[in-house]
Amino acid sequence: MSILRTKSVEQSLADADEPEFQLKRSLSALDLVVFGVGVVIGAGIFTLTGRAAHETAGPAIVISFVIAAVCCTLAAMCYAEFASTVPVSGSAFTFSYASLGEIFAWIIGWDLILEMFLGASVVAQGWSAYLALLLENLGITVPAEISSGGTVDLLAIGLVVVLGVLITIGIKESMRVNIVLVAIKLFIVLFVIVAGIGFISTANYHPFIPPAQPSEAANGLTQPLVQALLGFEPTVFGIGGIFAGAALVFFAYIGFDVVATTAEETRNPQRDLPIGIIGSLIICTILYCAVAIVVTGMVSYDKLDPKAALANAFEAHGQDWMATLIAAGAVAGLTTVVLTLMIGATRVVFAMSRDNLLPRGLARVHPTFRTPYVITAVVTVVTALVAGLTPVGVLEEMVNIGTLSAFVLVSIGVVVLRRTRPDLPRAFRVPWVPVLPIVSALICAYLMVNLSVETWLRFLVWLAIGLAIYFGYSMRHSRLAGTARDARVPDRT
Ligand code: ALA
Repeated sequence: MSILRTKSVEQSLADADEPEFQLKRSLSALDLVVFGVGVVIGAGIFTLTGRAAHETAGPAIVISFVIAAVCCTLAAMCYAEFASTVPVSGSAFTFSYASLGEIFAWIIGWDLILEMFLGASVVAQGWSAYLALLLENLGITVPAEISSGGTVDLLAIGLVVVLGVLITIGIKESMRVNIVLVAIKLFIVLFVIVAGIGFISTANYHPFIPPAQPSEAANGLTQPLVQALLGFEPTVFGIGGIFAGAALVFFAYIGFDVVATTAEETRNPQRDLPIGIIGSLIICTILYCAVAIVVTGMVSYDKLDPKAALANAFEAHGQDWMATLIAAGAVAGLTTVVLTLMIGATRVVFAMSRDNLLPRGLARVHPTFRTPYVITAVVTVVTALVAGLTPVGVLEEMVNIGTLSAFVLVSIGVVVLRRTRPDLPRAFRVPWVPVLPIVSALICAYLMVNLSVETWLRFLVWLAIGLAIYFGYSMRHSRLAGTARDARVPDRT
């Protein structure tokens, strides 16, 4: 069946070598770890930790972080195996094209676009909120209409446009800016941990797992799908709250998979991609658990500020200057997340258009900068509009569901490719195949059903749009559909 046709690994590798679409190989393993940490640590730890502790899990939020980390580690191993076998731009999209078939590749690509472009928009809005807070602490008031939550969020739009220009000029240049901002962000996170330890009161850890209680807020469309399906009374806290918390703070880990999108720009992808993906995940897990323990120890979970818990935990102890410092760190930190998610989004669309699943002209590479400038312009404009004009603050869960569904397919893909192409050299191999990838897919699926009913409905709409584009355009234009429709010739003229 043509929708299940696969693209051979050899073909993917050969395409990446076509001069017309060649990207510059300049990144090292260290660059990738920095890149990974740069995209992972962001709005999740700065804002979601407080909200999830306050609303769903209490001090046990640290367990939620561990559960989400287990899920991500398993998925990261699957990504690492794929990325070391098929080191081509496009991440999970390319991997599933080689293993599961075109329709699954399309769905994954479509999910990744959701993850990265919506993620960039959500975090750009968070950035704008923190910038306004920082400026206010410094005595400058930003008019409410042009900042986060206002009519047009000009701050978020400005950020996205500046970053779009930076990405066009060059990935190495973007990485240079990235490294400085990542250093500031790491310093702030370590500062929260070290400075916060002194303010911990162990009384705040009791009860560690607050008893489950019926929830008015989590009703109908806002309750987790699993509760709605099994007909449970909607509750928060308790053991269920820990899992719902894990599904929410999963957002904080999103991004390590984006490292895999830079495969074609990495000098030694087989060795460096696994280091980049797994290395950044380990660093972030340790930091997140430490921050979660410190913050829930500083302020009782029911008094944590769900909007800006980190800064406010210090304010609650009379340390206003520390709160200002943390707001400044958040501004620097969130910048890199938006930057990296935008790069990731452009690279996925790049891979999809190179295969003619999206118009091929999009994938054109700039003659001087050697970056995919057409896609970058499109991604920049769409992200800026969504970040500036829509209330996307509530859409983090959409980003989570898009990512988790891609993880499920990647995990299954590892098992499939081991069967269909056992001959391929794999610099990194997931241990205990097929057990680990299957466990990985099951945990991801379990976190997905812990997301809200409304998130599922929105996700199904997104999928329906994606499938309409696939059957209306991509299936017929695909390069695998035959040479007659290969649009390479007109593109070159
Ligand atoms: N992991 C990223 C964040 O926390 C998306 O902002």
